[in-house]
Amino acid sequence: APLLTTHDLGRTVHHHDSVGSTNELAFRLAQDGAEHGEVVVAEQQTAGKGRRGRAWVSPPGLNLYFSAILRPELPPQRAPELTLVAAVALAETLREWKTEAAIKWPNDVHLDGRKVAGILTELSAEPERVHFVIVGIGINLNSRAEHFPEELRETATSLFLASGQRVPRARFAAALWGRMEEWLDRYLDEGFDPVRARWKALSSTLGQDVLVRTDRQELRGRAEDIDPSGALLVRTEGGSLERVLAGDVEQLRP
Ligand code: BTN
Repeated sequence: APLLTTHDLGRTVHHHDSVGSTNELAFRLAQDGAEHGEVVVAEQQTAGKGRRGRAWVSPPGLNLYFSAILRPELPPQRAPELTLVAAVALAETLREWKTEAAIKWPNDVHLDGRKVAGILTELSAEPERVHFVIVGIGINLNSRAEHFPEELRETATSLFLASGQRVPRARFAAALWGRMEEWLDRYLDEGFDPVRARWKALSSTLGQDVLVRTDRQELRGRAEDIDPSGALLVRTEGGSLERVLAGDVEQLRP
């Protein structure tokens, strides 16, 4: 059977041995007119970017680092929903490898309570119209403990560490891009509701007691729901419902 089942996503791949960040290269290619579905893949990144100004550790040869250029017809304020589309596809793909992948709000994917993958979405838009969206995904496929820097060993994992199976990158990428395109098409046809429902079913955050850190505040409470835009709704100890658009969540043990 053919590896890749998509119409657009990953039909054109820009493959590089080493780049600073696939997101930055994809952004430049998109500015120069690259089309919907083109993907940048790198063997390693020397300046891999995570959310909130962090780095994404990207050693060569083991893992998958890519950025997809998407040109959906969406108002810019809905672009963040694409991160949840990607998170759903990513968690489902990891589950194909017999793991219990779960999504930790907003878009980290965890195995056995440790982070295995992250998503960084970047947007170029006018007030009325999206020019393009870059969805950058890093997945620890074959890293072993010694490949992680000391400070990540307790909190990071790989699909290999969690499943005991070495994971062929091309197969994983093809499976993921297939699911991403399916979920993207469904999202564009049916809207955010089915994505949100699936996200909730795959979430490990909802129902948990959490500590949320945003740029402005720290908040403690029960993660109750995500709202139609993907914001986390936290019921605080005082009983009020707070809406968190961006931040880090620590899941507290009861
Ligand atoms: C996060 O969880 O903080 C997001 C991590 C996103 C990492 C990927 S790796 C491919 C793409 N290029 C980057 O520089 N970042 C994303």
